[in-house]
This record gives sequence, C-alpha cells and structure tokens, in this order.
Amino acid sequence: MPRDAAATFLEVLINAAALQTRVGELGKRLSDEYAQRAAPPIFVGVLRGSTLFLADLIRRCSIDVAVDFMSISSYSETSAQSGVVRIVKDLDHDIAGRDVVLVEDIVDTGLTLTYLRRALLERGPASLSAVTLLDREARRIVPVQLEYSGFAIPDVFVVGYGLDFMGRYRNTSDLYAIRDLPRLANDPDLLVDLVFDGARARRSSA
Ligand code: PRP
Repeated sequence: MPRDAAATFLEVLINAAALQTRVGELGKRLSDEYAQRAAPPIFVGVLRGSTLFLADLIRRCSIDVAVDFMSISSYSETSAQSGVVRIVKDLDHDIAGRDVVLVEDIVDTGLTLTYLRRALLERGPASLSAVTLLDREARRIVPVQLEYSGFAIPDVFVVGYGLDFMGRYRNTSDLYAIRDLPRLANDPDLLVDLVFDGARARRSSA
C-alpha cells in the first residue's frame, strides 16, 4: 500500500515521544508513592501486552522495584464476557505483606482487572494498586478500581507498543489506531510495510 494511502487505513494515535513522556510521569508518581515503604513494591505485569510498558515504566522509576508476571486466559469465548478466567502463569513471589502494583497495557471491559484484583487481594498484600497505560472506558462492562492511568482513548482498535493484532505488531514504538479492521483481518500482513522500517530497507536493498 502506498504510504499516502495508508493514512486512510491507520494513524499514529499516540507517538513514541508522547508515550515516553507519560510513562515517565507515571514512573515518578509511583516512585513518590512507594519511596518510603519497608520493602520494594512488586510490579506485576499482565502478559503479554504490558511488557513494553512495564519495561519502560520500571526504567523510569527512581526506586528499587521487584518484577513478576501473571498470565490469565478465558475458559471459553462465552466466559470471556463473564470474567471467568484461569491462571495460565502464576506469580513466582509470595505477595503477602508486600506492596503490589498491577501493570496493564489496557483496560476495556474491566473483567480482567476485576478478576486479578480479587485474586491478588486474597493473598494478603500490604497494598494493591493498578496502573494501566490505556483506558478504553467505552468498552467497560464492570466498574473497576484504577489508581493510575496513562491515556484515556476512544473506542478504536489499537496496535503497537505491546498491543497486538493476532499476535502481531507488538514491537513498535508508536501506538496506532486501525481505521479499517476488516481489511487488516483479511490481510494480517498489511501493516508490516507501514510500521516497520526493516521491511522497507530489505526491499530497497534487494
Ligand atoms: C488484554 C489486556 C488486558 C485485557 C483487558 O489482554 O492486556 O489484560 O485484555 O481487557 P478487559 O478489560 O476487557 O478484561 P489480551 O487478552 O488481549 O492478551 P495480551 O495482553 O496477551 O494481548
């Protein structure tokens, strides 16, 4: 697709510089909040979308933090709407008595965060808070407690900076909004030339 024509198909919703500025602000707020605690807070990344955000966020924290990961999955298509999930990968840390910060890339329905908050609170942390890079509130099904949020975004499909389409396109520095999702579903390679310089470089040197 010619790059000019691409503008009708996708747009940069939040560019890398704006993402990094906001991540820096969140890192500072979290550092201020947790600076005086007895032990380093445990930042829990929810796999896999949060990985880029988590990596940048902890680099922007000026305090020592521990890192752990969880992965959860819906039991089925139907239960995806009910919030019934199973833990695919559990924490390695015992969080009893520790300060815990849940790190999400995006909150949509709120079902994932609701489940995770409940599951982690049962383990007796000293405190629990949640930080999300993106909040797409138009998709909310259940109200959810969210202490820190990077950006409120409209009800558009987004990829990049950790977020995927069918497992693709997570590793971009910008966050993109897709205007024509059916077209991407029809051709999942469509974004490669538009968001990765490597593909263009390979073609021009061939
Ligand atoms: C995304 C995101 C959150 C969840 C939010 O994960 O990372 O965990 O969905 O949605 P909700 O508010 O409607 O529950 P996804 O299942 O896409 O997995 P991924 O992070 O591996 O891409």
